[in-house]
Amino acid sequence: MLHKEVARLLNEQINKELYSAYLYLEISNYYQEKNLAGFQNWYFVQAQEERDHAMLFMTYLQNNSESVTLDTIKAPNTSFSDLKDPLNAAMAHEQYVTKLINNIYDAAFQEKDYRTMQFLDWFIKEQGEEEKNADDLCKKYDLFGSDAKGLYLLDAELGARVYTAPSLVL
Ligand code: FEO
Repeated sequence: MLHKEVARLLNEQINKELYSAYLYLEISNYYQEKNLAGFQNWYFVQAQEERDHAMLFMTYLQNNSESVTLDTIKAPNTSFSDLKDPLNAAMAHEQYVTKLINNIYDAAFQEKDYRTMQFLDWFIKEQGEEEKNADDLCKKYDLFGSDAKGLYLLDAELGARVYTAPSLVL
């Protein structure tokens, strides 16, 4: 069994990760409507990764004899002002998720819950990668997005992203 507060935060994170998947599906759909199939693909793959994250939190709780409570997933914000706006939203969201993961880590540390800290190590590293990916995308858009040919090539690059299952297996 896990400490009550640690288990509560881990359970809450399932919802946060599923919301992340929702947000990225929303962004994927936005780019689909803008005929940017590469951006659409990139965020569709990202949504799949977020769903995986939710399943990892769920499985970890279950592997520790904790019950899982699924909550309502709120609707994502849909009012993007321009093509760059979703990239900024994704960046801000990943920074928020990093804070959430750090908060769970902190609770586990307070309780000397080394098992949960070890589980979360993968997510700490993953958040570093996700923030970098989001930041790279913002920077690439700033460099190339305002030029039609640049945007075309960037879209082609993002179209090449393929889904891979998470390296963390429970
Ligand atoms: Fe599950 Fe993008 O963090």
